[in-house]
Amino acid sequence: MKIGILGSGGVAQTLAAGFLKHGHAVVMGTRSPDTLAAFAAEHPGLAVGSVADAAGAGELLVLAVKGRAAVDVLRAAGATRLAGKTVIDTTNPMADTPPVNGVAQFFTGPNDSLLERLQGEFPAANLVKAFNSVGAASMVNPQFAGGPPTMFIAGNDVAARAEVSGILAQFGWEVADMGRAEAARAIEPLAMLWCIPGFANNQWGHAFKLLHKA
Ligand SMILES: NC(=O)c1ccc[n+]([C@@H]2O[C@H](COP(=O)([O-])OP(=O)(O)OC[C@H]3O[C@@H](n4cnc5c(N)ncnc54)[C@H](OP(=O)(O)O)[C@@H]3O)[C@@H](O)[C@H]2O)c1
Repeated sequence: MKIGILGSGGVAQTLAAGFLKHGHAVVMGTRSPDTLAAFAAEHPGLAVGSVADAAGAGELLVLAVKGRAAVDVLRAAGATRLAGKTVIDTTNPMADTPPVNGVAQFFTGPNDSLLERLQGEFPAANLVKAFNSVGAASMVNPQFAGGPPTMFIAGNDVAARAEVSGILAQFGWEVADMGRAEAARAIEPLAMLWCIPGFANNQWGHAFKLLHKA
């Protein structure tokens, strides 16, 4: 598939490399394509352009930008370029204020989520929350002593969730499909929980796993 990645940071680069490794074509979109020159030189087959370029080229899109900027980036992508496409939403609604005793602060409240806000503004896009509850270093085919970790996903479109589940399987994850967009209210705060050992003890090498009764 042709994947359009909106973003240039650690998540965008990690997932771009992962999609290339698994044989997909990738176009990354950023306000400053020059900043990705060295990364592109190391990754043959990677194209870099504007956010609109990546959104237009991608059959499946990945949103990997700062949470506060997410709506502006989707506006720059353009609603018509998003329409009908699966958009993997990796973002977390991190506030600009620092963590409190290791607990990150969100700009959303408990009965709300960034995914729902984005889906509300872009109803024709099929957003699926995924990859937000683990660090970038463990997103692509991570190896853990306890076996494959679990990625929790949510979004309104059943076919889009199935498409993202297939990609997650390729990327070495078990998938826990939590259903419609409101489930992102529970999935986004997993990022807060995931970060606590990092902020407290500089431990970042973990992931969640959902266990099922035999
Ligand atoms: N880092 C992780 O391990 C991790 C793990 C899970 C989830 N996440 C989430 O994934 C997302 C990406 O994280 P990240 O660490 O890769 O990158 P980041 O540092 O959170 O964000 C960098 C990206 O945000 C864009 N951006 C920042 N301010 C902007 C603005 N005012 N207007 C437009 N675009 C703006 C940048 O766009 P340009 O390219 O145009 O400069 C860049 O692509 C975040 O929402 C984060 O919470 C991160």
